[in-house]
Amino acid sequence: MRRHHRTTPRVTRLLGSLLLLAAGTFTLGAAPAEHPSAGQRDAAPLGGIVPAPASVEPGGAPYRITRDTAVRVDDNREVRRVGAYLAGILRPSTGYRLPLTTHGHGGIRLRLGKGPFGAEGYRLHSGADGVTLTARTPAGLFHGVQTLRQLLPAAVERDSVQPGPWQVAGGTVQDAPRYPYRGAMLDVSRHFFTVRQVERYIDELALYKINELHLHLSDDQGWRIAIDSWPRLATYGGSTQVGGGPGGHYTKADYREIVRYAASRYLEVVPEIDMPGHTNAALASYAELNCNGTAPPLYTGTDVGFSSLCAPKPVTYDFADDVIRELAALTPGRYLHIGGDEAHSTSHADYVTFMDRVQPIVARYGKTVVGWHQLTGATPAKGALAQYWGLDDTDPAEKAQVVKAAQHGTGLVLSPADRLYLDMKYTEDTPLGQDWAGLVEVRRAYDWDPGHYLQGAPDSAIRGVEAPLWTETIRTSADIDFMAFPRLPGAAELGWSPAAGHDWDAYKVRLAAQAPRWDALGIGYYRSPQVPWPAG
Ligand code: ACM
Repeated sequence: MRRHHRTTPRVTRLLGSLLLLAAGTFTLGAAPAEHPSAGQRDAAPLGGIVPAPASVEPGGAPYRITRDTAVRVDDNREVRRVGAYLAGILRPSTGYRLPLTTHGHGGIRLRLGKGPFGAEGYRLHSGADGVTLTARTPAGLFHGVQTLRQLLPAAVERDSVQPGPWQVAGGTVQDAPRYPYRGAMLDVSRHFFTVRQVERYIDELALYKINELHLHLSDDQGWRIAIDSWPRLATYGGSTQVGGGPGGHYTKADYREIVRYAASRYLEVVPEIDMPGHTNAALASYAELNCNGTAPPLYTGTDVGFSSLCAPKPVTYDFADDVIRELAALTPGRYLHIGGDEAHSTSHADYVTFMDRVQPIVARYGKTVVGWHQLTGATPAKGALAQYWGLDDTDPAEKAQVVKAAQHGTGLVLSPADRLYLDMKYTEDTPLGQDWAGLVEVRRAYDWDPGHYLQGAPDSAIRGVEAPLWTETIRTSADIDFMAFPRLPGAAELGWSPAAGHDWDAYKVRLAAQAPRWDALGIGYYRSPQVPWPAG
């Protein structure tokens, strides 16, 4: 094997490596420049990935995966599973055997170890003899695997044998996330998505180190999760969707499969039952839930704000208790989202009553409340998270209410609709999506700082970011991909990467380099004119 020696390894913090990237300098630790085969050309320089790592120290010889490479793991069930996942990505495209083993030296090594990694960080060291990933937790190793993936040529993502070579730049990446909550939401109510479609999205999220999958499981147009004590919610309330299609719902076995698959990619599922508004599907399924005792028809339009559970009726809280109990039992994660947005048909007094009654139910079943930020207009439970979905120019009084709650201990997840709503059109010509929050081009989605977004909110209150995808106009996996790519990786970077390295001009170069990977994975994306995509 040809070695690529460097005489003076240079320590480069993130900013430095980004500047080098922006200048098009691909020599640091990258493939020898003399014979740039296609495979080498699109192998990333160390640090040339999304989200940008916390620190990068390029230098030394690269590592080349060959037919003799083994994946060496600690003798630990979960580490072995992460190793098997990595081998599962590498085998089809390299055509190598890549045996998983707990013995020997060199090759690709995954090990648990002590270090400044936190719960999700890792170190990746690449040199002539191998690539070693070290982390305190399997989650950290998994995120390190995503980095390793992106350091290999995009063709590694293909499912048939490709020519290679399979080279990883030499040096060390030390990485850990800025925020613990890095989420994406999928609305499976307005249009229903199958288990397999959700799992496809999970795989896309994992590539960018997203760790929370928020599922919007109920809305006016459809109830999507089986609840044994109120069976008509799913069988009738889930029987249609926007536009009047057949809809659908997850059986408990389906839902457990989604949770299991997400966990295998180190994502926590945050289930949402939106209440007291956005409840027409439930109200249509059970007449007794309505204040007037009459069930409305199913709804397949896209208006909001017309439905409400009946806050004064005791049965409302029996319903909430049953639903939350059954959903909590399906949920190994910490959170249960109770919605709370756009309750325009609920009086303020009823809204407060409802939230005062329902939040303790969530706690009783061992979960932490998450609500859209209107929850701060009631009294958020201790430890609750509020999800901010306002705009840059939302009424200052509304922002102040959220900030005040944050000052009193409510955690915040930031999903500004005119930044992170993936269903907003990119431009007036975007064939899918909505524009009520404005047009959201790729730069607009990326170029803001969650740490300074809500003036006066304490740093400790900002738990992270989430990119919601509402699906009034979204019906297929191709639709999901087109709206999420290329904005989703930007949301992921806002959640993961240090604020100090935030720089659109450097980011857009790293983002552009992702496109061949999306091509290889079959992910269609919006070719924004703001991004210097590779030709082709
Ligand atoms: C929302 O977009 N209604 C949370």
